[in-house]
Amino acid sequence: TTHHPFLSAFPKCEHHIHLEGALTAPLLLALSAKNNIPLPSSSPDQPPTLDSLTALLSPPHSSLQAFLTLYEAHQTVLRTASDFDLLAWTYLRRAHADHVVHAELSLDAQAHTARGVALSAAIDGVSAARRRAEAELGVSSRLVLCFQRDRPVADALRTLREAAPHLASGAVAGVGLDSCEAGFPPGAFAGVFAEAARLGARTTAHAGEGAGWDYVRDAVERLGVARIDHGVRAAESAELVARLAAAGTLLTVCPLSNVSLGCVAAVRELPVRRFLDAGVRFSINSDDPAYFGGYLLDNYVAVQEAFGLSVGEWGVIGRASIEGSWVDGGRKREML
Ligand code: HPA
Ligand code: ZN
Repeated sequence: TTHHPFLSAFPKCEHHIHLEGALTAPLLLALSAKNNIPLPSSSPDQPPTLDSLTALLSPPHSSLQAFLTLYEAHQTVLRTASDFDLLAWTYLRRAHADHVVHAELSLDAQAHTARGVALSAAIDGVSAARRRAEAELGVSSRLVLCFQRDRPVADALRTLREAAPHLASGAVAGVGLDSCEAGFPPGAFAGVFAEAARLGARTTAHAGEGAGWDYVRDAVERLGVARIDHGVRAAESAELVARLAAAGTLLTVCPLSNVSLGCVAAVRELPVRRFLDAGVRFSINSDDPAYFGGYLLDNYVAVQEAFGLSVGEWGVIGRASIEGSWVDGGRKREML
């Protein structure tokens, strides 16, 4: 990364980072010890070490599902508001080192409430870290509650209603849709997203990662989202590419994630050039930095090494990232 001083200093916005995916090996060990929760990946006679955990977290992962299984097992070490505070603060401080000036943090609310963690504990912990990052680092942030699409729609609706006071207070800025994609088309959640919009939530949805371009179209048409997480398989339809460009939809592309989960064999296979040429707006993101081999700057560098973009092209990406952020015009002007 020292070879890329321009990218290192570039002010960055990150829109697609799952806090649970920022549970690094040192954090897993610390929280496992603190809460007396054995790490599910360890055998009783062999407690996990920093090295063995690091190896387990390292890419490649054999599939999105295999990754999600490991990711869910590790989350059990998160119990209290202060655990979520530590997790979010550790990520935000690390992001700041990559010159991230604004971060939109996703949280899988249902994964935590399903195992007995109060929604307000998780949200309050993240809020504390966000306030500290704003005050001490000048990093602005937002919280996105993601519904897990492989859980029932009624469960998402119940979670949304429980989150309503947090949407009203601004502790939660918007909602998303994640987890296992194929077989769970976005349209099933149309009612949930309509109610979220009525509650003033911003909306986004994972699509076009684990399933094809038609899921991206479904998310745009039936959920009314102005943002798509991943979205790279939208490139399979010229008509959809043109439509996304015309609508100014922001795709939150995650290059190292896509390679780690085998969506593409290498970063150079991603439709970065295609999207730039077609005028599709996108940002670059780390998705789950503890699992996919890098934080935000590593993803920027991977794109640069694959595509050799010009300073002007990076300017286009940077402006789209700022414009597509869930902040007011004043904050956008500060970042530009
Ligand atoms: N896809 C779907 N769900 C997820 C991901 C992802 O890449 N990361 C964390 N939850
Ligand atoms: Zn994701």
